[in-house]
Amino acid sequence: MKVLVTGGLGFIGSHTVVDLLNEGYEVVIVDNLVNSKEDVLSKIKKITNKDVTFYKIDLCLKEDLRKIFEKEKIDSVIHFAGLKAVGESVEKPLMYYENNLISTINLLELMQEYGVYKIVFSSSATVYGNPKSLPIYEDFPLSTTNPYGTTKLMIENILTDLYKSDNKFDITILRYFNPIGAHKSGLLGEDPNGIPNNLMPYIVRVATSKLPVLNVFGNDYNTVDGTGVRDYIHVCDLSYGHVLALKNKKTGLKIYNLGTGKGTSVLELVKRFESVNHVKINYQITKRREGDIDSCYASNEKAVRELGFNPKYTLDDMCLDSYNFIKNNN
Ligand code: NAD
Ligand code: UD1
Repeated sequence: MKVLVTGGLGFIGSHTVVDLLNEGYEVVIVDNLVNSKEDVLSKIKKITNKDVTFYKIDLCLKEDLRKIFEKEKIDSVIHFAGLKAVGESVEKPLMYYENNLISTINLLELMQEYGVYKIVFSSSATVYGNPKSLPIYEDFPLSTTNPYGTTKLMIENILTDLYKSDNKFDITILRYFNPIGAHKSGLLGEDPNGIPNNLMPYIVRVATSKLPVLNVFGNDYNTVDGTGVRDYIHVCDLSYGHVLALKNKKTGLKIYNLGTGKGTSVLELVKRFESVNHVKINYQITKRREGDIDSCYASNEKAVRELGFNPKYTLDDMCLDSYNFIKNNN
């Protein structure tokens, strides 16, 4: 089985490639390195002791992508490639619509042309907007608050329409909650350029004295301690969800939440991080970040039932592994 992994050198993609290789899949990675580095490839090889084919290609250039479909006999696709920074998407919406939509349409057209019908797509809990209640189930109403989220929802709609028009397609939409953590080896993880937007990358920068203080965005939410609650999931549990999605016997169009089902507040995460890593995180309470919601956590019952999804890493693992990666790579 040969799997084309778009965005396979990125944070979640690289962990998934490791799982696929360990499970005996052949892997072809396509990535334009807009948010990743080529040395991830050698790290993947070091961890798995297996070979992987890599093409530096922009999915927006259809004729370049066509060469891969001509050359490689692809059986299925996992589509991670995309831009993902919420704030940047508000400032540069056209860049987000162009990159995320054109790349996906090119990919889907080529899949149809070359008779490749199985695809797993990276969506996000962001498509639930402000949920009506908790936990969040897959059939909740969908809405978005920023161009990044809208590209995810638009792609979900494109996939749904495509399936209606051609039910040879076998489509899995995975809605990720908040992936953190890193590979146990300390070789793969997340280290965004510039000042991080997301909580864990910010915490590790404070822990390593790269930033002086964590701003906690509001302590007046209707939550356990007033700070925002999210469903943090170890990236290795999330990545294995993609292997399960490929192995799933159920065909058609399927949608699954990938989260742990547990909510953790900002301050709870900070305290766990301090405790397991024996390090102090300076923080200050600041005003709410625009667009943030009180709480967001999944029901993962459907993924557990239908995929055999079984997240095994704890919050302590997530804190230990995130810190271990950053210490190894700075
Ligand atoms: P990432 O930025 O680390 O990985 C994405 C990869 O896609 C990068 O390596 C980038 O170089 C590549 N890429 C982007 N545009 C491309 C193009 N046009 N052609 C070829 N390659 C391109 O992000 P990630 O955290 O690994 O996320 C993977 C996917 O999961 C993304 O689609 C993201 O929107 C989605 N997602 C991520 C999160 C999260 O918190 N990390 C949450 C929900 C959904
Ligand atoms: C963010 C994105 C969301 C995306 C998700 C996964 C926004 C508004 N939302 O979600 O679209 O799908 O990442 O990539 O960016 N926090 C702080 N201080 C910080 C950073 C965060 O207090 O410096 C708080 C936030 O208010 C929130 C929690 O930490 O309560 C988690 O934030 P973050 O890691 O940015 O993830 P989300 O907001 O859930």
